[in-house]
Amino acid sequence: MSEHQTWPELELPDLLFTDPVRKIHADVENDWDPLRRSACQTAAGRALWKHAVNDPLAELLAGEVYLRGFYEKVKKDRLSNAREVSGVILAVRTMWFDAKIEEAINSFYGTGGAQVVLLGAGMDARAYRLSCLKESDVFEVDFPEVLQMKATILQAAAESTNYCQHTTMTGKSLSRVAADITDKNWLQKLQKSGFDPDRNTVWVLEGILYYLSSSHAMEVLKTIAENCTITHTVLLADFMNKPSITLSSSMFHFYSDWPDHLLPSLGFSDVKLSQIGDPDAHFGLLHDPVNLFNKLRGLPRSLQTHPDDGTPCCRLYLVKASGSPN
Ligand SMILES: C[S@@+](CC[C@H](N)C(=O)[O-])C[C@H]1O[C@@H](n2cnc3c(N)ncnc32)[C@H](O)[C@@H]1O
Repeated sequence: MSEHQTWPELELPDLLFTDPVRKIHADVENDWDPLRRSACQTAAGRALWKHAVNDPLAELLAGEVYLRGFYEKVKKDRLSNAREVSGVILAVRTMWFDAKIEEAINSFYGTGGAQVVLLGAGMDARAYRLSCLKESDVFEVDFPEVLQMKATILQAAAESTNYCQHTTMTGKSLSRVAADITDKNWLQKLQKSGFDPDRNTVWVLEGILYYLSSSHAMEVLKTIAENCTITHTVLLADFMNKPSITLSSSMFHFYSDWPDHLLPSLGFSDVKLSQIGDPDAHFGLLHDPVNLFNKLRGLPRSLQTHPDDGTPCCRLYLVKASGSPN
């Protein structure tokens, strides 16, 4: 970010956590693996970008360790006058999903509305913050301990004066479905929780596919595609390209350089792919005209390394696709 531009207001929130909430977060730190902890890390990003992202429960769900960790990164960016501030991808991603969920729900208006499934929901609080979900049954799928911790924190929030005003549900209903989506029976568990395969569905796969192995990610996408032959579907998902998964070799596995080719091969149609910085994935958050994302958008997507400096072209694709019975 160049000198004449102002930094966004990223501040560490006043932490009004009670002792029981601190205790829950200490358990997360001590007992959870990095995969499960990624849920809190993501929430910390949303909490720090709260001037842009409407997620008042994010700080509580993230916990102090991740909030402070993220804040330190932002401080470093400020000192080094970085062109992109840490977390901007996360903020844009969240806002893109918010906008596309609303668009998808509206597209089902007059045809019975739609149920919404959040796969790898983590600390997603959309069922408490998106008014467009008022007619939608919402399903959150994640590991049992993640969903349990979230429920306990939200219960504590409902009993606290600082956060209780944000704990009223905006979704019509919310079902938490404890399932490992690499197991074959996750769809069955979803159905047991009230998911109706005959109803219009919006599938939200935000920050999840690249944590899965390639075969598991493909299985999940195929399972959703098969469901499309029964009912009208919108799939919203983000995909890392190959250079991106090398960022954290232990955490990321699945990638797709061409999700706009992959999804039609599985039976999806109307695939619309956006990159960070595109008109529908900008939200006024990318202040520096020569930021990394604009540089990338100007290069052919087939390039894996930047021709000027040989750095990897790490891209995150935000993808919307549809499915409908023939
Ligand atoms: C980076 S977080 C993203 C959470 C949420 N979608 C968001 O954007 O805030 C990834 C989430 O996926 C969940 N997850 C990863 N692998 C999973 C699996 N095999 N089954 C169910 N959930 C999984 C993790 O527990 C974590 O909550």
